[in-house]
Amino acid sequence: MNFFLLITIPVYLIVSLSFTSSYVLSPDKRDDKFKWGYLGSNGPAYWHLANETCKGVNQQTPIDLKLEDFTNPTKIELDITKEAELILLNNGYTYQVQQPGGTDKKPEMNYGATLKVDGETYYLLQLHFHMPSEHHIEGRDLLLEGHWVFQTSDANAKVAVLGVFFDLGENEDPSLKPIVDEINYKPLEVGENVTISMSVGEQIFKKIKTAYSYIGSFTTPPCTENVRWFVSPDVQSINPSQFKSLKYVLKYNTRITQKRIDGGEPTSYKPWKPDIN
Ligand SMILES: *[C@@H]1O[C@H](CO)[C@@H](O)[C@H](O)[C@H]1NC(C)=O
Ligand SMILES: *[C@@H]1O[C@H](CO)[C@@H](O)[C@H](O)[C@H]1NC(C)=O
Repeated sequence: MNFFLLITIPVYLIVSLSFTSSYVLSPDKRDDKFKWGYLGSNGPAYWHLANETCKGVNQQTPIDLKLEDFTNPTKIELDITKEAELILLNNGYTYQVQQPGGTDKKPEMNYGATLKVDGETYYLLQLHFHMPSEHHIEGRDLLLEGHWVFQTSDANAKVAVLGVFFDLGENEDPSLKPIVDEINYKPLEVGENVTISMSVGEQIFKKIKTAYSYIGSFTTPPCTENVRWFVSPDVQSINPSQFKSLKYVLKYNTRITQKRIDGGEPTSYKPWKPDIN
């Protein structure tokens, strides 16, 4: 920390004095409309300019999880019926997998992938990735986090998101293979998409039976709240080659952890390492 400050303060002063001081740390005013992103003046500290909700009315996501959070997990039932022709899209913020025709079709028509919890069925809308992980465990992040976004088909359209951690292991993740193959063939331009044949995580879905559940938000603007989160303690393996390909396109697309309003803000951290599946 001290070393970091020693380096950054002089650099900041030099940059501030050499150019206009507003360029480095204040919102990008070159566009009429604030465009959110992950770096500097477009980054998470300024997302309230995209939507006030990002300041947090209730619990925002992601949060720092404690090992104890996983001791009384919620039982979930994940189900997927088929491999399908899906759209892989670079939306400028992440790589996203969705069905042809977008995510606005009636959810129960999508994929045939469901998350069932407490007698309620949520249907998969899309999945996407954050690098490094957005949720932390005992103060540390992992290499990658996948977000499977589900919604109920009733008028309330309640949203649930399944967060799955990935860390570096010897084995490649078979569910991510079609995405990584596509990146290796040719990374997508921003806004570009391709049709790929894949399941949306059959192998992962088979392994996950429980998750830590809490009510949070979207991790990107508009930071919409009242999202039911399920974070799985089951860490998946990506191999070095998969990591490098995903890093090449995702770079850094993670929001910092948000204050826990349940009083669960960690005061100290326990030593911990993932059991990689
Ligand atoms: C995918 O790209 C095609 C053009 O190649 C475009 O017409 C279509 O709207 C895009 N779909 C999505 C979901 O972005
Ligand atoms: C901000 O987000 C809230 C909740 O998602 C939404 O209702 C509202 O329309 C958004 N406002 C703007 C300006 O995007």
